[in-house]
Amino acid sequence: SNLLSVIQGIPKTELHLHIEGSFEPELMFEIAKRNNIALDYDSVESLKKAYKFNNLQEFLDIYYMGAQVLLHEQDFFDLTWAYLTKVHSQNVVHVEVFFDPQTHTDRGVAFDVVIKGIYNALEKAKKELNISYKLIMSYLRHLSEESAFQTLTSALPFKEWIDGVGLDSSELGNPPSKFVNVFEASAKEGFKLVAHAGEEGPAEYIWEALDLLKIDRIDHGNRCLDDEKLTQRIIDQQIALTLCPLSNLELKVVQKLEDHNLVTMLDKGILATINSDDPAYFGGYMNENYFETAKALHLNNDQLKQLAINGFKASWLTETEKQAHI
Ligand code: ADE
Ligand code: ZN
Repeated sequence: SNLLSVIQGIPKTELHLHIEGSFEPELMFEIAKRNNIALDYDSVESLKKAYKFNNLQEFLDIYYMGAQVLLHEQDFFDLTWAYLTKVHSQNVVHVEVFFDPQTHTDRGVAFDVVIKGIYNALEKAKKELNISYKLIMSYLRHLSEESAFQTLTSALPFKEWIDGVGLDSSELGNPPSKFVNVFEASAKEGFKLVAHAGEEGPAEYIWEALDLLKIDRIDHGNRCLDDEKLTQRIIDQQIALTLCPLSNLELKVVQKLEDHNLVTMLDKGILATINSDDPAYFGGYMNENYFETAKALHLNNDQLKQLAINGFKASWLTETEKQAHI
């Protein structure tokens, strides 16, 4: 359709993508087989039938299960390379990718195995696909701050490969305040800071992420509109939000895409961006997120272009690199 070709034609960024969430069932079965691991499902079809979620936690349970078949550097490479070739075909030119080290180190897979596989795929994409990238190590908030500190220590030998740290997993009951010390230590090491906040959690968690963790960008942030003062702060300081519309739909953050507050945010002057979060689980990569959102919210071409420009603005590219794209 015309809308799809407009979206395809716009060079895009992806700023909110969990590499473990790009694990397609077909590749999962292939890697499970070569690693001699049995999955709880006997076919791609039966696995896909389980992808029905009422909330974030129901998704996370399946997402962590899927990641268990990843054992070797080659597995992490294949996972990352599959994602990069896919988004390359969708005219994504810059990615800022999350990985969850603890999901793997807690199973006995060494930190260096994980990061080397991911890093080598990112470097290959930079050279062969002309995709620029940043890498973000995300702490799992359902685990302790001490465990996050151990992860930070494991990461230090690879500091040059990692641009920032994030905070993800089960939001409710795990407020940003739980991680103040490890975010402070991470900042001292020179990492940029982001955190998931206000996806299922209240506006109060966004305040905490900004004031206590001192983050540079908010992942999701849907609930910011509940709080007028917070909204004004986000507008005044142009703090970017990495929204994920299809994720919000699949995790019932919104009941239907028509209810999404993206246009309200744009109209208020919030630096909102569109991203895919966990595309293998939520039914779409970047183009599908733009497309479904555009249809549901009747976005015009100017709004679509604005969203893409916002992606570059919100990215960690240098000002010169940004200007080259927009
Ligand atoms: N991990 C992967 N996707 C996530 C999401 N949408 N929210 C929190 N943690 C996640
Ligand atoms: Zn996320």
